[in-house]
Amino acid sequence: MALLSFEIHNFRNIQNSPLTFSPGLNLVTGKNAAGKTSLLEAIYCLGRVRSFRASTSGQLIRYGQSAYRLVGRVGQWEGRGGMPIGIERRADGLQVHLDGQPVKRLSDLAGRFPVQVFSADTPTILNGGPRYRRQALDWALFHVEQAYREVWQRYSRALRQRNAALRAQQAPAEIRAWDAELLETAAEMHRFRSTYFEALRPYLVEEIECLLPGAEISVKYQPGWPANTALPEVLVQALEKDRARGHTRFGPHRADFSLLFDEHSISAHCSRGQQKAVTVGFLLAQVKLQRASEVPMGAFLLDDLSSELDAGHRARILGALRELDTQVFVTAIDDSAIDAADWRDARRFHVEHGNIRETR
Ligand SMILES: Nc1ncnc2c1ncn2[C@@H]1O[C@H](COP(=O)(O)OP(=O)(O)O)[C@@H](O)[C@H]1O
Ligand SMILES: [Mg+2]
Repeated sequence: MALLSFEIHNFRNIQNSPLTFSPGLNLVTGKNAAGKTSLLEAIYCLGRVRSFRASTSGQLIRYGQSAYRLVGRVGQWEGRGGMPIGIERRADGLQVHLDGQPVKRLSDLAGRFPVQVFSADTPTILNGGPRYRRQALDWALFHVEQAYREVWQRYSRALRQRNAALRAQQAPAEIRAWDAELLETAAEMHRFRSTYFEALRPYLVEEIECLLPGAEISVKYQPGWPANTALPEVLVQALEKDRARGHTRFGPHRADFSLLFDEHSISAHCSRGQQKAVTVGFLLAQVKLQRASEVPMGAFLLDDLSSELDAGHRARILGALRELDTQVFVTAIDDSAIDAADWRDARRFHVEHGNIRETR
């Protein structure tokens, strides 16, 4: 699944006529503030209907305009139609079209065009908060496990209801009325998540071993409640305090994970360069697992690769992505930093003041 063509209207500083992309490598160059990250942001928005830069979606509309519009065609093969995805954001709301039909629930868009990003402008699984790591995990599971989304939605609904009952200071029996659904779905989410980490582990070890030879990497997954107690018991013990606080303090909505490097926390013990390599290694491992599960791939966005990673790491990452047969967008100030020689079908683009054009 690749983004084959793309039209961008009034998205940040970008305004362009339709562009045709390679299903392999797309190399985007341009000076600072030309609009490189904005282009990646637009591609990301098409897949996930939100930005990876911390901003409200209103900030994405070009200054002085009232709406932005993105129209992309995604498909397997270059030159063949592909399915159009259209997104239009106005001050008063969002409209999404899939194959010409309005999309009512954003979840219907899931999996149409999966995108992963590596950019200095996004929190990573290492430096972001637990919420960010949960999103990274949930996003992967939404794609790999069809049933996960439904369980996740049921859990979220039960949690909302239970929290409303807690806030309203309802009697314990009324609060506990939500526990059966909450516990059933919590157990399933936990099972999906632990299985996911088990499946990811060999890919992670392989990726990180390549990027950081000799490193012993492990994942520590915390389900969201004390590991030595079963969740039903935790909820009973926590009820009084939960009522005082007005929310449920334990459950899969508080899950987290950390990556350890020779048993130490990576964020505390590794250099910035190593942290970046681990972050990319984690993303690559997720993509490889997705591939192995025969889930359609989308695009991998690498922003400002040359300033983020040294030549060895860059070559390793691009090599891994080429093996995976994934569409890649790489941005750089100039293209001397990116070796595209191994890519048969690389295409080059240059951005200037929000104008994108293909170069040869
Ligand atoms: N909503 C907007 N409308 C118009 N321009 C914007 C908007 N948001 C950001 N910009 C500008 O777009 C330019 C491109 O930014 P960016 O994509 O980050 O550049 P690059 O990644 O090439 O350095 C910047 O000058 C930024 O100030
Ligand atoms: Mg940038």
